Formats: sequence, C-alpha cells, structure tokens
Amino acid sequence: MFESNIYEERRNRLKKHLQSGIVLFPGNDESPINYSANTYPYRQDSSFLYYWGLDRPGLNAIIDVDQNQEIIFADELTIDDIVWMGPQPSLKEQVLQVGVAKILPSEKLDEVIKNAINKNRPLHYLPQYRFDNLLKLTKLLHKDSDEINKTVSKELIQAVVDQRSKKSDLEIKEIEYALKISYEMHTTAMKMCKPGRYERTIVGSIEGLAYALGSLTSFPIIFSIHGETLHNHSHNNMMKEGDLVVHDSGAESEQHYASDITRTIPVSGKFSSRQREIYNLVLQMQEKAIAAIKPGISYKKVHLLACKILVGGLKQIGLMRGDTEQAVAAGAHALFFPHGLGHMMGLDVHDMENLGENHVGYDAQTKRSEQFGTNFLRLGKELEPGHVLTVEPGIYFIPTLIDQWKAQKRFSEFINYSQIESYKGFGGIRIEDDVLVLNQGCKILGDSIPKNAEKVEEMSAS
Ligand code: GLY
Ligand code: MN
Repeated sequence: MFESNIYEERRNRLKKHLQSGIVLFPGNDESPINYSANTYPYRQDSSFLYYWGLDRPGLNAIIDVDQNQEIIFADELTIDDIVWMGPQPSLKEQVLQVGVAKILPSEKLDEVIKNAINKNRPLHYLPQYRFDNLLKLTKLLHKDSDEINKTVSKELIQAVVDQRSKKSDLEIKEIEYALKISYEMHTTAMKMCKPGRYERTIVGSIEGLAYALGSLTSFPIIFSIHGETLHNHSHNNMMKEGDLVVHDSGAESEQHYASDITRTIPVSGKFSSRQREIYNLVLQMQEKAIAAIKPGISYKKVHLLACKILVGGLKQIGLMRGDTEQAVAAGAHALFFPHGLGHMMGLDVHDMENLGENHVGYDAQTKRSEQFGTNFLRLGKELEPGHVLTVEPGIYFIPTLIDQWKAQKRFSEFINYSQIESYKGFGGIRIEDDVLVLNQGCKILGDSIPKNAEKVEEMSAS
C-alpha cells in the first residue's frame, strides 16, 4: 500500500467535495466458487482500495462528513482464523497504516447507519455489483435489492470519478509496473506462437507470468485465432499456419493497478501480404489517434478520426467506397470496427465502469452516440492531463455481421460487399497501448512492446 498520508489526503478531498452526510464503503468479501470455503482469488473493491488501501475481506468503512470522522468496521481474527491462515498483523496495526484511528466491531455498523437514517442524514453510497454486498445493503438500509442501485449517490459518484480519473505519479508508477508484466506476457506469447500449438498452452504460460510477477490478470485473457470475436475467452483452438492471433491481456500490479495491451501475431511468423496490408492500416489508425491525443480534445473526436483513417484505407484496398466523412457519419465503418477506441484505465482495467460508463466517459458537453459501433465507445469526453486511457482500434471480418448487412444492403453505397466475401475467415486485428495525457500531448506508458509488423515478426522468430 502507499504511505498513510495518501489515503488521508484522498479521503479529505472527498469530504471537501461532499457537503454533508455519511459515506458508506462496503468492502468486498471472499467470493465462493462451488462452496463457501473454496473461493475465487480475492479482489478488493477498487474504490475501497483507493480510499482505504486495505486489501483484505471482512471490512466496511464510513466517512462521517459532518463530524469529520472515519471508521473501519471489522472483527479481529479469531484463533481459528490464525490456525488456518497463519499469523496476521492486528486489525489496529493495519488500520493505522492507512491513517484511520477508529475501529468498531462489524455489528456496530447497523447501529450507526440506523442512527443516520433516523436523523434523516444524507447517506452516500456507490452502485453495487456484487450480490453479497447488495444483500448487505438491503439489510442495512431496509430497502429491496432492486432499490439499492436506484438510490445511489450521484454526488458521490461524481466526486469519486473526478478524483480517480486523474492519476498521480505514484499511480502511474504502479501502472508502469503492470505494463512491465504485460511486456513479459506479450513477448513470451509472440515467441510461443507456433503452428500445431494450442492457444491454451500459451494462455497457461502467460497467465502464470501475471501471477508470478504481480497479482492477477486485470481481466480474462483474450487469445484467439478467431480475433473477429471481440472478447473471445475460449482457448481451445490449435493454431495453424496462416492464422492470426489476437492477444489482448493485462496484469495487475501488487496494488491492483491495471495494464491492458493488445498485439496481433502471425502464427507462421510472417504476415501474408493481405494480412500486412490490414495490419498496417490498424497501426496507422492507432498511431494517428495517439498523435491526436492532448488535453481538451474529446475522445469521441479521436475515435472518429480513427474511423476516417479506416475508411480511407479500406477505400484504397477496395473494400469501401464513396465519401469518407459521409461513410463515418452514417456509421458504415462499424462493419469493420464495431467497438470504441478505448476506455479509462487505473485500479480497474475499464476504470470505474461499476460506477456507470456514462458517469466516467461522458458529461454535459459530450453525449454518448446511439449509433451501432460508436455506441460502444466507453470514453467520449474531453481529455485532461492525468487521464490514462487505452487506444485500441481494430479491423475485423465478422462473417455473421457481413452476411446480415449484405442481405439488408446496408450502406451499400459505401461498402463493396462483393470484395469482402474473400475476407471471411481472415479473423481480426487489434492493436492496443495505454496512454497518459500530459499537459501537452500524451505519452505511451511502459516499455515498447513490438508493434510494427516487422518487429512482431522478429520477436516471433526469436
Ligand atoms: N482489453 C479488453 C477490453 O478493453 O475490453
Ligand atoms: Mn482495452
């Protein structure tokens, strides 16, 4: 964890943001796989980590804004816990490390919340995404479970988004550490990709690297010769000569800051000329998008810039036609690029997505598009120094989508359907880096992972 003053300062800023009331932070508990004692790897809630730093189950916390008081509710470990889990620092020691002076037994939380409700004090809490915490809140607040997420505090969400969106130097160091793990995962995968190997052989090795060097992967690894399926989590294919593998993965630093990197690898070690042509177009989309990133530009504008480069390139290849601006305005590019250019990244790989994508990625100036493709853009608003975001354009040939649009003659003024038939089976290509917005421009975080087609080929051959 960071020094205690970091957490104190974060909580003080939050108190200043909110006018009054009580802020309730339910920590995450263990999550069972198939019976209570057999659990998934433990992951604390990211906002809990941000304000309270403590990475263990069994905690809840409140900030009483009016009385300027912070309390952690938890129970000391029993002798049984110590027998099974080994000696642990006392609760008091742990809580002092994050600058909190007051601990109360878990059972006292009910009383404190009841008191606040009786006095009609504002009670702030964030949207809940785990069923056990939803249940916890239904009991504490005496509300139905479907009421809980309808009565969250917009004021708190806004305050948390404002704070967590701007990354400090310490946080950037954490992200860069996660990116060191990504470097190892990606270069290992490039070297291991060979015809005749199964995808899962590589996935097993690189997931092990995430565990060995940090904590967990930041999301389930995407590693597939069917890269046209955007989030393909099955790894059972045998890789063949001529296949392209989309490898999209990330790691978490010990403090749970994420990385998120995508590279596309030719299984045979060399891109075919057709693959190279599409690869270089995706690379151009990514590099031009990164070159456009600076404070004050909306990410929606950067996304649309990438879409225009895509249309321009596909026109040269003969897959699209007509006016580029009009094609993008109509949404014709989404046949090939049906997702957004990127998202914020931090303690969550899709940072703060549990607080609501629109609260994080959009604001009064930038509204979310309803058009297929751009509607999946998670971050659209103006960028500010300190934002960390992903830049991840792609080009995909999705047979079912091609067949559907072709049958509907959708955007046939812009799409050359007869030329696309032979690309079915091509798969997909995505390239992703993580970028920090600076006072001027931006920088790609982490050591450079091979990205030019020739560099990917070189690494694959090594
Ligand atoms: N890299 C996976 C995602 O951004 O959804
Ligand atoms: Mn991503």
